[in-house]
Amino acid sequence: MSRQLFVTTALPYANAAFHIGHMMEYIQADIWVRYQRLRGHTVHFVCADDAHGAAIMIAAEKAGQTPQEFVARVAAGRRQYLDGFHIGFDHWHSTDSPENVELSQDIYRRLRSNGLVYVKPVEQFFDPVKGMFLPDRYIRGECPRCGAADQHGDSCENCGAVYSPTELRKPTSALSGAAPELRTSEHYFFRLSDPRCTEFLRGWTQDGRLQPEVANKAKEWLEGADGRQLSDWDISRDAPYFGIPIPDAPGKYFYVWLDAPIGYLASFKAYCARAGLDFEKFLADPATEQVHFIGKDIIYFHTLFWPAMLKFAGRPYKVPDKVWVHGFITVSGEKMSKSRGTGIDPLKYLQLGMNAEWLRYYIAAKLNGRVEDIDFNPDDFVARVNSDLVGKYVNIASRAASFLQRIFAGRINLPMDPSGAPTGSTAVALAAADEIADFLDSREYGKALREIMRIADFANEHFDKHKPWELAKEPASRDLLHAVCSDVIGCFRALTIYLAPVLPATAERVARELFGMTRPLAWDDLRSPLEQIAPYKHLMTRVEARQLEALFEPAAPPAAEKPLPGGAPIGETASIDEFARLDLRVARIVDAQAVDGSDKLLKLTLDVGEGRHRTVFAGIKSAYEPQALVGRLTAMVANLAPRKMKFGVSEGMVLAASHADEKSQPGIFLLEPHAGAQPGMRVR
Ligand code: 2FM
Ligand code: ZN
Repeated sequence: MSRQLFVTTALPYANAAFHIGHMMEYIQADIWVRYQRLRGHTVHFVCADDAHGAAIMIAAEKAGQTPQEFVARVAAGRRQYLDGFHIGFDHWHSTDSPENVELSQDIYRRLRSNGLVYVKPVEQFFDPVKGMFLPDRYIRGECPRCGAADQHGDSCENCGAVYSPTELRKPTSALSGAAPELRTSEHYFFRLSDPRCTEFLRGWTQDGRLQPEVANKAKEWLEGADGRQLSDWDISRDAPYFGIPIPDAPGKYFYVWLDAPIGYLASFKAYCARAGLDFEKFLADPATEQVHFIGKDIIYFHTLFWPAMLKFAGRPYKVPDKVWVHGFITVSGEKMSKSRGTGIDPLKYLQLGMNAEWLRYYIAAKLNGRVEDIDFNPDDFVARVNSDLVGKYVNIASRAASFLQRIFAGRINLPMDPSGAPTGSTAVALAAADEIADFLDSREYGKALREIMRIADFANEHFDKHKPWELAKEPASRDLLHAVCSDVIGCFRALTIYLAPVLPATAERVARELFGMTRPLAWDDLRSPLEQIAPYKHLMTRVEARQLEALFEPAAPPAAEKPLPGGAPIGETASIDEFARLDLRVARIVDAQAVDGSDKLLKLTLDVGEGRHRTVFAGIKSAYEPQALVGRLTAMVANLAPRKMKFGVSEGMVLAASHADEKSQPGIFLLEPHAGAQPGMRVR
């Protein structure tokens, strides 16, 4: 029976580039999605930036941008990671979108008319220095449950408890360092403690749809192992806030965690509009399965608030069918920080020319269906990729294909038993199909890959056992040689199908180049006829230890890891000596003139304190009226070799800032020193 699935990964905060933890989740979900599609199921796979909230509002303010500009800049950096690691989302959206406003307000109104929203005055911390109510994340203090120090105001990283910031012990404002004051304001609450919610959640969390350890966690929260019942959820924040206005509540906004999961639906809705699908019909269809991949740190939101919101909002909304929780990824045993990531920069990995499928394979090999952390270990990575992927899997094709090509013109003659079923290693591969399918479907990727490599070992041994290099010398052994080589190629095709969700680019190449197919491989191709192969082309190189060394070399300056407003990556490292070769000076613009016949250049006369004036042609005409520059200071490269131009000799260069792509983002900004600088001063 064909399934129809709506699959998401957690929406990343739009305040930083992706780190390895994001890529791990996306790779995990992408493998699952690709597996479902390989089986012929319909999958809509979406994600979005989680744009709202105080953290982003404050970060944007620091960056001198509007929150919208700030998140747009981060969003623009997403594609290179997703494409680079073959993550096949159908759509990438933002929670700061019209769809999300509409859906969040709709869900809220439904909850309100269901009697699940109420208002009550709340005493909340107010930063007297900043003049605003303090967002939870900007209050630090001791966890009221376990006592761990330096915890955020909304949840504890140590024990997973979720609480209200006023419960925190020894609070301080992380914005100003001030001791926050308690002030009162009206807040909106979602009544999670309502018996309808509790009863629903007891069923939903315990009916087998969640992993056992996740169900147990939910049970603890629900049954109040610590003697408490579920707290109601504060879903409003006071202006100033970057978020979605609460209907009929001036100055109040939805707390970011209210509209974030609704962003799953907003992204899907936007995708439906683009793809010509009926959003409501798809959701309302009882056959639709809604599946969320998340990390273990956000279980509470996804197994209590989110299903309850959906349940009591009613149709067409549906409750999640699965919330699949994974652990964290450490690197060489080192814990990752949510904001700083780890020692591995996914973009650097790609920029070093490392194969994205190595990482996909390695991560998959480590994953299982439980909530366990996994570790990226560089030595283990090299060993696994080289021995499994190159040494076992690819090796089968490269060896057998060369005999088939040389001696049999690429013709395949699969040996069959009397009943017409394949024999040898192809039979071994086919016999494992159901087990591998179950492993992939239940996210036991490590088990699936171990099984696949067991079959690859079998095929290589089967091949070696027949000593094909000797058979090739004996005309009388041609049939046997043909059978052995054909058999392992049959096995290789089955393994490629099994590996296709993990190695989509390789599988695509194998299908096209080796098997001459004009469509992607499907699960059903396990049993389709195999008659001919094309000459084998080299499929995958080995990882080299020096690539791992380069990957772990001390990080580039932090600026390079963040999306840059200029849009271009930071250039190669320069030594201090290289920098010192440039003689940069403060210059006064004594005169500025348009240049006849040039629509780009201004002719500047500069004083750099040498007792003479210099002439410099600068491409800044689009940005400045010449007269407006006269008398102002700027900076120039004073020891640049003079350059003969059409309009005269240019004796240096002034320094100006612009975007990498000046066409789509115009603007040129001359540098100007702070007041007090004198012409001729060295800039360094
Ligand atoms: O923890 C996080 O990174 C959140 N931005 C996840 C949101 S998931 C969903 F609810 F949107
Ligand atoms: Zn705690």
